[in-house]
Amino acid sequence: MRFHINGDIREADVDIRTSLLDLLREHLALPGTKKGCNQGACGACTVLVDGNRINSCLALAVQYEEREITTIEGIGTVDQLDALQAMFVEHDGFQCGYCTPGQICSAIAMAAEAQRGLPSFVTPDLAAQAIRLDHDELRERMSGNLCRCGAYNGIIDAIRATFVE
Ligand code: FES
Repeated sequence: MRFHINGDIREADVDIRTSLLDLLREHLALPGTKKGCNQGACGACTVLVDGNRINSCLALAVQYEEREITTIEGIGTVDQLDALQAMFVEHDGFQCGYCTPGQICSAIAMAAEAQRGLPSFVTPDLAAQAIRLDHDELRERMSGNLCRCGAYNGIIDAIRATFVE
């Protein structure tokens, strides 16, 4: 099977039951995407598919041939951090860092969703303008990504500094 990942075309011979998460980590040597709960509850495995966020532990790899997949390895570089990554550093948006790849991918998609006017679950009237999202709205929109260290305030501050302020 052929996969479009981080601007490259990658080939892998995987069982049809292989999750997208296991494809990335175990077959394509892309361990940046993390396995937490492996059942769709924690968001650690979040990646972007055509710009939208998905939990890769719940997705079968075979469903994503020919789709544009972006993982944390495709966002910024060690020498040149993405703007959001730089704000995570500046605002202490992590402690252990395990959830950070998923948080970053989720936040990028979340900002795009807000800019496209996709409704949030709580206050759809605010969704049209990302610049007006407040702390609580951002927390709600990022609620699918858990942080066991409790670095939520830093995460939201980093997101606000990148996309809102
Ligand atoms: Fe996929 Fe937790 S590992 S949601």
